[in-house]
Order: sequence, then structure tokens, then C-alpha cells
Amino acid sequence: MKTIIEPFRMKVVEPIRMTTREERERFLEEAGFNLFLINAENVIIDLLTDSGTAAMSAEQWAAVMRGDESYAGSPSFYRLERAVREIFGFRHVIPTHQGRAAERILFSIMCRKGDVVPNNTHFDTTRANIEHTGAEAIDIPIPEFFKPSAHHPFKGNMDTSALRDLIKRVGQKRIPLVMLTITNNSGGGQPVSMANIREVKSICSEENIPLYLDACRFAENAYFIKLREAGYRSRPVREIAREIFSHADGCTMSAKKDGMANIGGFLCTNDDQLAQSEKDLLILTEGFPTYGGLAGRDLEAIAVGLQEVLHEDYLEYRVVSTQYLGRHLAEGGVPIVEPPGGHAIYIDAGAMLAHIPRCYYPAQALVVELYREAGIRSCEIGSVMFGKPDPTGGEEAPAALELVRLAIPRRVYTQSHIDYVVEAILAVNERRSKVGGYRITKQAPFLRHFSARFEPLRS
Ligand code: F0G
Repeated sequence: MKTIIEPFRMKVVEPIRMTTREERERFLEEAGFNLFLINAENVIIDLLTDSGTAAMSAEQWAAVMRGDESYAGSPSFYRLERAVREIFGFRHVIPTHQGRAAERILFSIMCRKGDVVPNNTHFDTTRANIEHTGAEAIDIPIPEFFKPSAHHPFKGNMDTSALRDLIKRVGQKRIPLVMLTITNNSGGGQPVSMANIREVKSICSEENIPLYLDACRFAENAYFIKLREAGYRSRPVREIAREIFSHADGCTMSAKKDGMANIGGFLCTNDDQLAQSEKDLLILTEGFPTYGGLAGRDLEAIAVGLQEVLHEDYLEYRVVSTQYLGRHLAEGGVPIVEPPGGHAIYIDAGAMLAHIPRCYYPAQALVVELYREAGIRSCEIGSVMFGKPDPTGGEEAPAALELVRLAIPRRVYTQSHIDYVVEAILAVNERRSKVGGYRITKQAPFLRHFSARFEPLRS
């Protein structure tokens, strides 16, 4: 069959509250034109994030009932440990309340002031947790990464010659670990190839540096390898995932993505001594090592979710439905980051709204316009998020790109929801020359995108 369907049917539904344009104008004014400050009830299609927003399956809800809430030695933990060991293959599985807790524990043990951690591209919590230890987080993606319209099957790859140069420049002793983020979220949800993972591992082995994976979207990455890399077409995704992890010494994981759960994460390692220090720290801040800040029912939901995310009919639907959104936007003349990634489509707002100077936040203007047009919530990934204000009051340095992310929650929206999103974006694209920029009226000293307030420029 040519038509790829949602490989599930619905047993429970959540109503969507429709809003009028007039109501949305008011909500925008009240929220200072910041979509993080809009009540989720007033959003029609919520594409803010794919994190923690998945619809759980009947099997997951059944497992939730089985959740054992014992403080120590819960069978729910052992079920999760078994699932993670079987898929990821690491010896130690340390549960945490979400991905960033795993990052904090890993980096506070491995990193010191003056250290350097290379990654294809650090996610913002990963970078912040590394910098919090006094170490430096360095991004070394391949050059195609910086060109939104460039096609590359594995645009998430790390630049391995830059990695060699970096090791030569700063010295092996100052690099406690190398990381690879699969898929590369900040770069458009682009996958990393098995060849790149293998090459990075071989450089790390020569230098005796451990390789860690940020595994949030590992199943989507494994599926892209199956589709695009020679020799993997007939291999089960589960096996491909196992091969990916066989090249790593450990991983951090947010189960809110490819764990198909609403909360949770874990940290894995093969190093016994390191695992002991990690568990000691876990007890201090997260909880006993058989629950790590999660309820037994959460551990159960993740154990089942990790199995379901590897179903190939699910992954086919996931990748095809994300591409469907990307293809319809691109065919309608909207510039997107090519090729479409696994979990999100990124609109190049800098190109779409090229008449708005960077200092007036074109990506923020687009985010506001999509909400105004049709109640769609998306996420600015541009100069509001990454611009660097000048402490002396001069012009701030803009971000590398002005992007808007449309992240697709797992198993939540149907094709007609996506058709609605396409129609709205194409309508905004039609009248793009009339869309104006924004000025920040209030901002926090860091992570300002969550709370800043804006006003439209009056022309
Ligand atoms: N690493 C990557 C690549 C991520 O995308 C995220 C979260 C994390 C780590 C942190 O995990 O949220 O469980 O603490 N990304 C979400 C997003 C927030 O919207 O992309 P967490």
C-alpha cells in the first residue's frame, strides 16, 4: 500500500478547545507575545515540544497499574533494567527523573574546571550542565549543518577532523569524554550515521577517551540508518540500535522522547567504579538507585515504551508523517531545514521573513503569527533563545540561525491536524511581507526565552 496509516486507533480522546482569532489576540497581549506564557488550554495544536507529550499505549497504561512503589528493590525497576540492558546493552542502568538529571550526575563526576567536552551539537541542558562544572562544551558538527537548505543523509554527523584537531590542540587529558547526540536535536533532528559513530569511537579509543551518547531519539536515529546507510536495509532496527550502543561506553537518556513516557530518564555506563560514584550522587539528590526520583509506575511505562518505539511500523509512520509536514511546507514555498528530521520540522524564519532585521527577532515573529493565525504553538530557536545581549547596552550578537521548530508529539496528532498546520503556515507565508518584528520589553539574565515579554514594532 502507498498510504502509510497511523498504526494505532484511539480508545481515549482529549478534546481540543477551539479559540477565535479575537480570543487569541487577547491571549497574546496578556502573555507578552511569549508562547511559553500561554495557557495550554488555549492552544489548538501544540508543537512546542515532542518531550513528555507522547500518547501512551493501552499496554503502557496496563503496566502503570502494575507499578510497584517499594522504596528499595522494586520489581518495576528490574523490569526497566532488563529492557534497557537488552536494547542498549550497558551493564549499569541508573534511573533519573529526566534527561538533564542524568547529565548533571554524569558531568559533575567526570568534568572539572578547564576540561573540554566535544559533541556534534550539545542540547541546551547538556551544555548548561557541562558549563556548570566549569568545563567547556564545544560543538563540532559537519559544515553542512550550518546550511539549512543543504541535503545530506546524515547531517547530524560530527566533524571527525575537527575532533582530531581539538584533541591535538587541548590535549587528551583535558577531554574527560566525547559525546554524540542522536539524533542531533539542535540541528533539525538530523541523524548520525553508523560510520560516523564508528569513526568517532575509533578516535576516542586511540586517545583513551570514553564515548557517551545522548540517546534521547535513538530509535529514530537507528531507523534513519536502516533507510539511508548501505548494508542496513534488511537489519531489524532493534539490532541497529544495539550496534550503535556497542560503540559507546555509556549514555544519557531522556525517556520523555523515544521512551514514549511522560517523565523519566536514565544514565548508563559499563564502568563499575563510575557507576558507584553516580549511584552515590543519585541517592543524595534523586533517590535510591532502584527508583531514582521516579514512581514505580513511571519505570513500568518506560520499560514498555522502549519496546514499542522499536516497532518498525511505528517508526515508518513516525518518519513518513514528519516528512509529510516538511514536504507540504517546502512545496508551498516555505524554506525549511532540509532534509526533514525525525521528530520535528524546522522553518528557516530568517529566510522566510528576510525583511525583518535579526535584532527584531524574525523567528519570534513567526511563532506569534502561527498562534494568531490558527492557535498553533511552536518554538523559537533563534536570537531570542541564543542571542547574546551586550552587557554595555550595545547591539546584541544574533544566533547562527533564526529557526522555528514544529516538534511532533508521538502518536498524538492525525493527518488532518497536520493538514490544518500546513494550511495555516502557507497562509502566513502568503502575507509574510506584512508580518513585522518584535522588541523585548522585559528579560531574565539567562534562559530569557522562557519568560521574556515582547511588544510588536509599530510601523
Ligand atoms: N538531550 C536532548 C538532545 C534533548 O532534546 C533534551 C530535551 C535533553 C537532552 C534533556 O532531556 O528534557 O528530559 O531533561 N529536549 C526537549 C526538547 C526539552 O524540547 O527538545 P530532559
